[in-house]
Amino acid sequence: MTDKIAYSRHDDIVVLRIENPPVNALSQAVRQGLADGMDRAEAEEGVRAVMIVGEGRAFIAGADITEFGKPPMEPHLPNLCNRIEASPLLVVASMHGVSLGGGLEVALSAHYRIAQPSARVGLPEVHLGLIPGAGGTQRLPRLIGVEPALDAITTGRHIKAPQALEMGIVDRVEEGDPQEVGLAYVRELLDSGAERRPICEMPAPAPIDWDAAYEATLKKGRGQISPAEAVRAVQAGVEKPFEEGMKAERRIFSELMNTDQRQGMIHAFFSERAVGNLPELKGVEPRELKAIGVIGGGTMGAGIATAALLSGFSVVLIEMKEEAAKAAHERISGNLQGALKRGKIDQAKFDHLTGTALSVSTEYDSLADVDLVVEAVFEDMDVKKDVFGKLDAVCKPGCVLASNTSYLDVNEIAAATKRPEDVIGLHFFSPAHVMKLLEVVVADKTAKDVVATGFALGKALGKVSVRAGVCDGFIGNRILATYRTAADHMVLDGASPYKIDAALEKFGFAMGPFAVADLAGLDIGWATRKRKAATRHPEERVPTYIDRLCEQGHFGQKTGEGYYIYEKGKRGGTPNPEVTRLIEEEQKERGITPREFTEAEIVRRYMCAMVNEAAKVLEEGIAKRPLDIDMTLLFGYGFPRYWGGPMKWADIQGLPNVLAAIEGFAEQDPWFWKPAPLLAELVKTNRNFDDLNKEAAK
Ligand code: 3HC
Ligand code: NAI
Repeated sequence: MTDKIAYSRHDDIVVLRIENPPVNALSQAVRQGLADGMDRAEAEEGVRAVMIVGEGRAFIAGADITEFGKPPMEPHLPNLCNRIEASPLLVVASMHGVSLGGGLEVALSAHYRIAQPSARVGLPEVHLGLIPGAGGTQRLPRLIGVEPALDAITTGRHIKAPQALEMGIVDRVEEGDPQEVGLAYVRELLDSGAERRPICEMPAPAPIDWDAAYEATLKKGRGQISPAEAVRAVQAGVEKPFEEGMKAERRIFSELMNTDQRQGMIHAFFSERAVGNLPELKGVEPRELKAIGVIGGGTMGAGIATAALLSGFSVVLIEMKEEAAKAAHERISGNLQGALKRGKIDQAKFDHLTGTALSVSTEYDSLADVDLVVEAVFEDMDVKKDVFGKLDAVCKPGCVLASNTSYLDVNEIAAATKRPEDVIGLHFFSPAHVMKLLEVVVADKTAKDVVATGFALGKALGKVSVRAGVCDGFIGNRILATYRTAADHMVLDGASPYKIDAALEKFGFAMGPFAVADLAGLDIGWATRKRKAATRHPEERVPTYIDRLCEQGHFGQKTGEGYYIYEKGKRGGTPNPEVTRLIEEEQKERGITPREFTEAEIVRRYMCAMVNEAAKVLEEGIAKRPLDIDMTLLFGYGFPRYWGGPMKWADIQGLPNVLAAIEGFAEQDPWFWKPAPLLAELVKTNRNFDDLNKEAAK
């Protein structure tokens, strides 16, 4: 027995209690302990049943992800599951907290399952770029049928115990101490003469149209392969004897283990947890937050207020005029109406949030008691400075003063107050009550506990918060500006916006850059180009064709025409021939002979531009770690999770290859494609971005 399993005897029942905090992952020692425990129980006189239960907050959260990529160690999980299932004793799993992945697979190899009402089960391996690898794709369909099993496996969703009971995944749901209610259940089963019930002996379920299911899953996954491969594993289990199905599952699991997508997804899993873990904030207590102030109730202010209300904060929103205040209230009510419709809140909660918890005012004095204010007024430095001056006058000492600015200098905004140490940037993404990303922008004088408070707010709102420094666009928008420029250059040189969007959607982006521009509104980019025109470097190549379209009053989706033409009632748009004409016109004016771009070249240029700028963001200290950039792009910019983020993508390509590509592009346009010194340095010292993550964690 290993020290991860506590063995105890209760008359004729043996309890194997897993003690591997924090989440009872199935490390080698846990697997060994369970195997030894089964051996011992079977060898002992008078034992009739074994119950497996978890200590702490979960039954079992699955295989130990930290062991992935290392040489596999015996006993292997599929063999352990088979061994448990084959036991001559009656085996019961008593589940609480989560039973995920290998955890549910262990439970499925038991003969009966009892769960706490609050328990959740699931096979989330697809979120790690894998499929269940210890019989999940074989046993679950036999137990509940192919379609519900495929839904669970290909989505990886968590299923609450009452629903798991309805679906037949668990046999009983009962509140109480997992060991006590579990033991009572085992006793009841023994007294009623219940027989062993190995799922492997159940008949194979009815088949479905496998090719159609495979194709549909592949399409839904936008290029992610593991959910579609899970269909094949389930198919093998239905068409072949159990042992053959297990072998097919193992083969697919092992193949996926060696894919880039698995590496990317697991990088995303750990980075998502590491991103809020800042060494500089160790031991720093955040300030208390109860009441939040929001200045400006437009698109962003209303979204921020909605998010805060839904997370239990009271909100005081300030607008300029009564009419605007009324409109802001309506906007927030509209957002909350959505939450009501989706069942996230009930009517009583809706009434409370739009009534008592929210107050809208035109008087800054109403902010006297708030603990933190987020300013979301127009993107104009003078307006922002004026607002911060007023906040300084009315907010109580210790109140955190935050700006939601997209680009402006937070140091300059802080200087408009007498308390720059309380000022920070909190850059939300639109729609703010939906998007997961929050950039916490730390200015020169921001106090540490104010930074900690920014992160605490992000956590309370359910956001992924990333630390960023001050520069034009912080981490995300600054990098976006560069890769968007790379896309614009490709358009000038001959790749159509539609070909670029298609290539990048195939790469895995939720939307291509031109479809995104139409969604955000072309007027935003137009205004920025006008603002920057005076200070532009002469060698900078900026296309003007889209300005011609804006001059005609076409701003994208909101006006029905942009890069694409949008018809009412139809999803998506069709290419706009006027855009193609304007591009050709500009190419003629500039004397450019358009050339062919392959999809691979489009992706390479776009990604290299992203990585190169990201490396500059890192070396300037705007982002502290590569993983901060990866999480920014993943949660704010629709970057495909299965690549892990741009820095992980670069590591997977090999940094020498990325640098060589950038140097190659620089031969035609040395001004735009200046290789980041950090990239060259990493190549020279034979390191990559992941090494920088590891160095930062030390
Ligand atoms: N292996 C190793 N470590 C794990 C782990 C796992 N399966 N699951 C969680 N952890 C670690 C986390 O990294 C974190 O470590 P840290 O404190 O050092 O950052 C710690 O446990 C606590 O996790 P969270 O911060 O995520 O805690 P939450 O309470 O928010 O969430 C959870 C708990 C729901 C279990 C969540 O961690 C989770 O979803 N884990 C992954 C579950 C999973 O994907 N299981 C399938 C594994 S693959 C598999 O089983 C293959 C098999 O089919 C062969
Ligand atoms: P918006 O124009 O929709 O809303 C601004 C609101 O502020 C208006 O309702 C206006 O009446 C109000 N306002 C202006 N001056 C005010 C003052 N002195 N006091 C009180 N209210 C005042 O603008 P939006 O899009 O909500 O942007 C707000 C801020 O958020 C900007 O700084 C913008 O850069 C930033 N941002 C915008 C994003 C977006 O996608 N729209 C994303 C992230 C940040």
